[in-house]
Amino acid sequence: MATLPKGPSKLAMIRMMFDLSYTLADMARDYGDPLTMPSAFGPMVITISPEGNKEIFTADPELFTASAADSFGRVIRTSVLVTSGAQHRRQRKLLAPPFHGQRMRSYGDVMRTTATEWALRLAPGNPFAMIYTTQAITLDVIIFAVFGVEQSERVEQFRTDLLELLGSFTPLIFLRPLQHEFGGIGPWARFQKVFRRLEEHVFALIAERRQSQEPKEDILSLLLDAKDEDGNSLSDQEILDQLLTIVFAGHETTAVMLAWAFYLLHKHPDKLDKLHEEIDKLPLDLETDAIAKLPYLEAVINETLRLYPPIHVIHRRLAKPMKLMGYDLPVGTVVAAGAYATHRLPSIYPEPERFEPERFIGKTYSPFEFLPWGGGARRCLGAAFAMYEMKIVLYTILKQCRFALLETEEVKLTHRAGTVGPKGGIRMMLAR
Ligand code: HEM
Repeated sequence: MATLPKGPSKLAMIRMMFDLSYTLADMARDYGDPLTMPSAFGPMVITISPEGNKEIFTADPELFTASAADSFGRVIRTSVLVTSGAQHRRQRKLLAPPFHGQRMRSYGDVMRTTATEWALRLAPGNPFAMIYTTQAITLDVIIFAVFGVEQSERVEQFRTDLLELLGSFTPLIFLRPLQHEFGGIGPWARFQKVFRRLEEHVFALIAERRQSQEPKEDILSLLLDAKDEDGNSLSDQEILDQLLTIVFAGHETTAVMLAWAFYLLHKHPDKLDKLHEEIDKLPLDLETDAIAKLPYLEAVINETLRLYPPIHVIHRRLAKPMKLMGYDLPVGTVVAAGAYATHRLPSIYPEPERFEPERFIGKTYSPFEFLPWGGGARRCLGAAFAMYEMKIVLYTILKQCRFALLETEEVKLTHRAGTVGPKGGIRMMLAR
């Protein structure tokens, strides 16, 4: 039996599934670095220091398989999130182009109009949860990227199915022993029922697109045209899995971050004023590329990602033994970079609990100190796209709306569909 670093008990882990008030930063203080946390994937060895994170992110990618396969593997079997090795490399190469450069920037206007449309739906004086608005925006944007301008009934149906699927989500569905239908009762059975309906609708959509000869620029067309090294097209199953991955990974995280950004800015009016100083003198229809270059806006988003990274631990499973920070870890161990706790190390970020966008002005951090996007061979494929979108949405809404924050207490963390987000969704009200 290998000796693993110290860490909290299984009971603490069960508690954390429902109550995140004991955070990874608290664990790092109590148990040191690295530490072992029981998890749904088995014992997880988590590094906190940049040195430990570096050992994970710069290790040979062949050392790892995707630990996400344990949780998502029964849902999206061939997704880039769960594959490893040559298949994973091929899928990343195929999926990367729409999320970078000119292709990514071509979504700028859609990001702006979608943000305006949803902001206009807010009624002054009516309390609302900001996360619903940010989620509606990011979902519409990613659906546009995936399906293009086509707004058929089927795409609308996809949106409805997806929202229902998200509604049927609980962290319990990631626990293998609970992944049984139990005669149609329980969270997994509920999730599967909605999932099968969604799958049926997407297969019908793929069949329709295969029939139509019209050339299109969207991500679905890219997947339909893609060929592997032997010249074979992707199967419907593979297309479905990648589409779902992009839609899930591409909207939930970004929505959570935007909600936190609104929260932090309104909790710190001096920072909000400073952002207004930067944006108020600029036109609403400023070129989206120019919005993306605004320094204080970027600093606000980076500081939000530091304080509330939507993925707290960035994990992989060992396919080969690894020496990590002096520990000899056997095959099968899950290792993780503990972003949430690294982002709170006072040696890197003095007064780490303070919202201080200025720490990102004129200063850069290494990818082992600032790691909201993960790192190494699995680093987030949509990082540039998400940054572009968050800047445009924040700019567009703040230029047109003034809000009141209705949260009087510190907002707590809660598990959402694959991310950690704000409990209650950030209650706000449109003031004008
Ligand atoms: C604020 C928004 C986002 C954050 C903070 C975020 C963060 C992350 C993190 C931490 C990972 C795991 C990386 C690792 O294992 O090293 C990841 C993976 C991924 N993200 Fe994002 N993400 C965001 C938005 C997006 C968007 C907009 C897309 C696509 C449009 C996207 C697509 C993906 C994909 C496909 C992966 C899997 C990569 C792989 O396993 O090779 N993400 N993301």
